[in-house]
This record gives sequence, C-alpha cells and structure tokens, in this order.
Amino acid sequence: MNNTILITGGAGYIGSHTTLALIAAGYDVVIVDNFSNSERWIPARIAELAGRPVQCIELDLCNAAATERCINEIRPAGVIHFAALKAVGESVADPLRYYRNNVTGTLNLLQAMRQHGCNHLVFSSSATVYGYPEQCPIDESAALCAINPYGRTKLMMEQAITDISSADPDFNAALLRYFNPAGAHPSGRLGELPRGAPNNLVPFVAQVAAGIRDRVRVFGNDYRTGDGTGVRDYIHVMDLAQAHVQALAYLQRERQDLVVNLGTGQGYSVLQIIQAFARTIGHDIPYEITERRPGDADACYANPSLAQALLGWKASRDLDAICADAWRWQLHLGAA
Ligand code: NAD
Ligand code: UD1
Repeated sequence: MNNTILITGGAGYIGSHTTLALIAAGYDVVIVDNFSNSERWIPARIAELAGRPVQCIELDLCNAAATERCINEIRPAGVIHFAALKAVGESVADPLRYYRNNVTGTLNLLQAMRQHGCNHLVFSSSATVYGYPEQCPIDESAALCAINPYGRTKLMMEQAITDISSADPDFNAALLRYFNPAGAHPSGRLGELPRGAPNNLVPFVAQVAAGIRDRVRVFGNDYRTGDGTGVRDYIHVMDLAQAHVQALAYLQRERQDLVVNLGTGQGYSVLQIIQAFARTIGHDIPYEITERRPGDADACYANPSLAQALLGWKASRDLDAICADAWRWQLHLGAA
C-alpha cells in the first residue's frame, strides 16, 4: 500500500514538526514548499532529527500545472496542507495576496488531488474562524465569523473543502482548528523562525528574554479577563504535530470528515505567559502596558473534548514545557 504523505508547507513551523511526527509514526513523507516563509535548510534539519533522508520539492501551489504534476508523480495516500500565509495585519494591508496565495493555492491542490484520486486531506484551520467568540470554552458548533482577510481565507477554504467532500463520498477531510501554537522541538534544533519582529506573543517574549528586544508590549489590560490582559489557549507544537498523525489515521480508518479544535482547554493571560517565561529563564522580563491591538478578543480557549473522543488525542505538554522549549530554541537562534 502507498504510505506516502505529501506535506505542503512542510518546511514551516508546524509542518516541520508534523513531518517528524509522521516519520516517527512510520509514514513516508514528501515536503513541498515555496520557502516564502521558511528556509531552504529546514528539510535537512528535519532529516537530521529523523535520522533519515526527507524528500523535499520546491513548489508554489499557486502554479496549478506544477501542482498537478507533483501530485501525479508522488501519488500520495494523503495530503496534510499547511501552506498558507498567516499574518493577520499583513492580510489586512494586502488582502489580494492572501486570497491568491491561500485560496488559489488550496483550490489548485484540491483540483490535483481530485484528478489523481487522492482522497484524504488534513487541513490547517484556525480558531480565527470563531471571530470574537461569544463564550469560552469554544466548541466546534460555535458560530463561525471571520473578522479579517486571513480569517476569511480560512473560512473559504473550510467551506470549499466541505463542499467537495459532500459531493464525493470517497473524499474526506479533517479540518483542524488550532488555537495558539507555541514552543519548539525539545532538541532545541527546530522551531519557529519569525522574520522581523514576531507578531505572536511567545516568540516575542523569547526575543525580549534573549535581549534582542527591550520589552514586551502588552496589548491592553482592560479586557474582561482575570488580570485584564488577553487570554489564549497555548498549545505545544509537538502536541499539535501528534494530532495530525491521529487525524490522518482517522481519515484512513473511518473514511469520514472531521472538524476538531486543537487546544488544551486551559487559557492563560499575557501576564501569566510573561511570568511563566520569567520562571524558565530565572529573571524578570520587562514589559509595558500599551494600547489594545485592533481585532483582539478578550479570551479564546478551546473545548478540546471532541478531539479526545474522536482521535484519542489530548495535549500532554504544559505551559512550562512550552516556555522551556521555546527558550532552548531561542538560545539556538542566538541572543542579541
Ligand atoms: P509557516 O509560515 O511557518 O509555514 C507555512 C509554510 O508554507 C512556509 O514554509 C511557507 O514557505 C509555505 N508556503 C506558503 N505559501 C505557499 C505556497 N503558495 N506554496 C508552497 N508553500 C507555501 O506557518 P505555520 O505557523 O507553520 O502555519 C501552518 C499553517 O497553520 C498555516 O496554514 C497557518 O495559517 C495555520 N495556522 C497557524 C497558526 C500559528 O499560530 N502558527 C495558528 C492557526 C493556524
Ligand atoms: C493571532 C491572530 C490569529 C492567529 C494566531 C496564530 C491576530 C488578531 N490574531 O492570534 O488570527 O490565528 O495569531 O497565528 O493577530 N500580545 C501582546 N503583545 C504582543 C503580542 C501579543 O500583548 O507583542 C497579546 C495579544 O493581544 C493576545 C495574546 O497576546 O491577547 C496572544 O497574541 P498572539 O500570539 O498574536 O495570538 P492571537 O492574537 O491569539
């Protein structure tokens, strides 16, 4: 039986960790990436950590003909589709780039999969599809409402995939709604590679801890939360990677669609994250309270029980592991 899984965006942050998890689970993997937000040395690093070679094809999913040729050549048993642009602010400034890259790229991939009878797709969705959640914890039946172009591309892709799946009983897909991925590989040799100032909190705090930036800017302390700062559900990237292995196995076994939240169920405030990181490094991390960032919700954390019931998956790493692994990776990247 063909055991090869194609991983789009496999050189990226979550894709690289998932590639390792798939290899550990016994799959053959092929990475495709256009390296628009990753480095060409990442596949070699994955191979080093996996202890075996990893095939990587440079491909832009916006090139429909090349995408079709790739699927025809590899004939994967399934695809895990990470490749997308993901910066919310950038999506507001340049929406066309986001619609073209994320939506067109996904449609090209789906077209090629349909054409060559590849029937299992695991898709990277996001808690962003819940917009400003009405209540927490959020379960999968909560109202969907995107509040920026990035979120709208995720909703459009979810809808396109669901429609295709409804039209063809042989095709099935897992829509995985990630909460806040954070942390790094425990070896300290693989992690997120932010370009410029990180948008997300944990890599920003890590850069302040390393002396690369002078302080964390806490975006508002007047939210309706315990200490007034935003509350999120931080999920270790290693746990997230493992969920993909189990989602793929679910599709192959059950041949049914799946929509699940991937979070821990536990929310932490911005100040709690700064404190946890300070514990990890053994000294305080400077911060200042600034204006709210437009578009931020008060609190956003998952009810992850459906993933546990259907996949037998549950996050096993806590906030201390996230901070310790993010810090080891930051030390590997270097200080100021
Ligand atoms: P990332 O930017 O590190 O990885 C994405 C990879 O896709 C990069 O290597 C990039 O070069 C590649 N890529 C982008 N467009 C491409 C194209 N047209 N053709 C080929 N390759 C392309 O991002 P990540 O954090 O690993 O996120 C992976 C997925 O998870 C994305 O779809 C993202 O929207 C989603 N997601 C991420 C987060 C998060 O906080 N990291 C949260 C929720 C959802
Ligand atoms: C952001 C995106 C979301 C995306 C997710 C993962 C926005 C509005 N939302 O979510 O669509 O799915 O990243 O990529 O960009 N914070 C600070 N200072 C900082 C950075 C963040 O105080 O320098 C706060 C934020 O206000 C928030 C929390 O930290 O309360 C987490 O922020 P972040 O890591 O950017 O994640 P989200 O906003 O949840």
